[in-house]
Amino acid sequence: MMTTDAVIFDLDGVLTDTAELHFIAWQAIANKLNITFDKEDNEKLKGVDRENSLKYILAKGNLAVGTAKFEQLLKEKNDQYLTLINEVNPSHLFDGVLSCFAALKKSNVKIGLASASKNASLVISKLGIEHLFDFIGDAASVANSKPAPDIFLSVAHGLNVLPKNCIGVEDAVAGVRAIKSANMFAVGIGDNQILTQADLVFPSMSEFDFNQVETAFLLSAT
Ligand code: G6P
Ligand code: MG
Repeated sequence: MMTTDAVIFDLDGVLTDTAELHFIAWQAIANKLNITFDKEDNEKLKGVDRENSLKYILAKGNLAVGTAKFEQLLKEKNDQYLTLINEVNPSHLFDGVLSCFAALKKSNVKIGLASASKNASLVISKLGIEHLFDFIGDAASVANSKPAPDIFLSVAHGLNVLPKNCIGVEDAVAGVRAIKSANMFAVGIGDNQILTQADLVFPSMSEFDFNQVETAFLLSAT
């Protein structure tokens, strides 16, 4: 029998608008390298880890760089991102997140975090919500990043629940693929024309309705 044991959230673009801050920082790097980088490119990079994001940008510009330069570009991007997230505070939490978490707690559903970002713990503490999670995944400790299922599976393990009893929430195409590969029910946050592999899509977290999610989830098993 299937039960809703946990909901596992992505961070950037689901709980707060850091997806935009990653975009600003990558665009600065791309500009410096004379590579065009627009919102459409950024859509493909959502959920993709730092190294693979830089590889994508370099490939787009047909540019090859040595290891030292590659590392330097990664550092530059992250330094700018850290400056940008320094301003993050609890007011940056998306509308609907706290009421959603409250509904989950009321239903005894565990809450997990599965972000590809090595800065996830810092952002979560700046948002003032770290105490609300039952388990926070560590992007640095998994072998394969999204769209591989690793981070979602490691969070399910950390929460001590079976993946099939978990619901994942993502704003990124790569993230939705990771959830589906982990054999979980996928809720997309954003555009249903983009998040086509999600089982259910809400335009934003303020529309996230746990009763609707749970009903669709339990129905999906029958
Ligand atoms: C998230 C974001 C990506 C970002 C990745 C790595 O998945 O959606 O845009 O590249 O995290 O973030 P980091 O903070 O480790 O560079
Ligand atoms: Mg995201």
